[in-house]
Amino acid sequence: MALAVPVLSPFFVTSNSHSLPRRPIPASSMEISQPTPADYADTIPSLTLHILKAPQMLLQAVAYHHPVSPIMGMSGECRCIVPDGTMVPRRHHEYRYICMQRRGSRLLQQHVVLALMLLYRLHRQSQILDNLSGKYVLITGCDSGFGNILAKQLERRGMLVLAACLTEKGAEDLKKETSHRLQTVILDVTDSQSVSSAAKWVTNIVGEAGLWGLVNNAGFAHTISPNEWQTKEDFAKVLNINLLGMVDVTLNLLRLIRNAQGRIVNVSSAAGRISMFGGGYCISKYGVQAFSDSLRREMRAFGVKVSIIEPGSFRTSVCMFDPMMKSLKSYWEKVPAEIKESYGEQYFQQFKDEVEKITSYSSSQVSKVTDCMEHALTAVYPWTRYSVGWDCKFLYLPASYLPTVLSDYILSLFLPKPAH
Ligand SMILES: NC(=O)c1ccc[n+]([C@@H]2O[C@H](COP(=O)([O-])OP(=O)(O)OC[C@H]3O[C@@H](n4cnc5c(N)ncnc54)[C@H](OP(=O)(O)O)[C@@H]3O)[C@@H](O)[C@H]2O)c1
Repeated sequence: MALAVPVLSPFFVTSNSHSLPRRPIPASSMEISQPTPADYADTIPSLTLHILKAPQMLLQAVAYHHPVSPIMGMSGECRCIVPDGTMVPRRHHEYRYICMQRRGSRLLQQHVVLALMLLYRLHRQSQILDNLSGKYVLITGCDSGFGNILAKQLERRGMLVLAACLTEKGAEDLKKETSHRLQTVILDVTDSQSVSSAAKWVTNIVGEAGLWGLVNNAGFAHTISPNEWQTKEDFAKVLNINLLGMVDVTLNLLRLIRNAQGRIVNVSSAAGRISMFGGGYCISKYGVQAFSDSLRREMRAFGVKVSIIEPGSFRTSVCMFDPMMKSLKSYWEKVPAEIKESYGEQYFQQFKDEVEKITSYSSSQVSKVTDCMEHALTAVYPWTRYSVGWDCKFLYLPASYLPTVLSDYILSLFLPKPAH
C-alpha cells in the first residue's frame, strides 16, 4: 500500500529508475512503500550473509549525510534501519549508481596504497650499513662459482674477506686476483677437523669483536638421477657437503657471529622449495631451509639475522651438463640388470635430454645471485629469502604453492615413462 509519509527520509522513496539523482529527492513529493511483516522475515540471515556489503551502503548513507544505515537483503533488496530501530525494504538497483561511483574511487585508493607500499619497500631495501670496511665475512666454497665471485665483489667493496677454498690452487688463484683485504684458508666442510681448525684461524683474526658475516655457499649437485639408481652412500655424499657441512661450519662460528650481532647467509636452491628430481640434492636443500628457519628464530634474540638464498638455474659448474651427465651415466652403469630392464634404455636417454634442457636454460647472469648475497650482508634490513632468477620466481616457486595433485601432474609431464 502506498502512503505519503513526509517525515521519513528519501531513502524510503521508491523509484523504478536504475540510477539515483545526485541529491536526495524531497520525500514529500514521492510515494513511500510501507513494510509488511513478510518484509522482515529474512532480516537476520540477510544481515549476516551480506555483512560484507554493508560498508558500501554505509558509505552511501554518509555521502548523503543521511541518518540511516542501509543494509542489502538477500534478494537484491535493501533494508534501511532508521534511528528508531524499524526496518524498511528497498530495491537494490536504486543504490547501484552510487555504488559504482564509490567502487571507482575505492579502486584508486587501493592503487595509491599499493604504490606507497612499494615505495616504502624500495626505500627500506636501499638502506645500506655504514662502516663496512671494518667487517669480516667468511665465505665457504670460494674456488669457483658464486663463492669466488662474491669474495672478489666484497673485497672490491672494501670489506675484509676470509675466503675458504677446498683446494690450494683455488686459494692461490683467488689471492692473485685480489688485495690484502682478502685472506684464504683451506676448508673441506665435510671434515670436522678441517672445520674446527678453520674456526680457530678465524677466531685469531677477528678477535673478540667477532665475525660479521658467514656465507655457507659450498655445495655439490652432480647427483641428479632417479632415486632407485642411487645408493645410501650417494645420498650421504651430497648431504654431508650441502647440509651437514653447513651445520658444522655454522655451529663452530656461531659464538663469533653472535659477538658481532652479524649475518648468516645460507645458500639453498629453488630445489629446496620443490623436489624436482631424485637423489640427495633436493633433500639437502630442503634441509638447508629447515635449518635456516629454526636458526633465524633462535638468533633473532641475539641480534643475528639469517637469510636464505634460493637461486634457480645459473651457469656455474654445479649446473653444467658434462659433469651432470658423467654422474648420471655412472649411476646408470652401476644399476642392477633387472632395474635397468624396468626403466629401459629409452628412459635413460629421455632423462638425459631433460637434464640437458635444464642446463641449457640456465642463466649466465650469475651476479644476480651474488648481489643478493651482498645485500643480505650489507643491508640495514636484509630479507629472509632471496629467490633469484626468472625460473625460480615464475616457475618453481609458484609450482611449489600448487596443490600436490597439480604440481605432481605438471612435473610428471617432464619425466620419462619407464619401459615396464
Ligand atoms: N648454479 C646454480 O644453478 C645453483 C642453483 C641453486 C643453488 N646453487 C648452490 O650454490 C652454491 C654454490 O654453487 P655454484 O653454483 O657456485 O657452483 P660451484 O662453482 O661448483 O661452487 C661450489 C663450490 O663449493 C666447493 N665445494 C665442493 N665441495 C666442498 C667441500 N666438501 N668443502 C668445501 N667446499 C666444497 C667447490 O669446490 P671445487 O670447485 O673445488 O669443487 C666450489 O668451489 C651451492 O651450494 C649450490 O648448491 C647453485
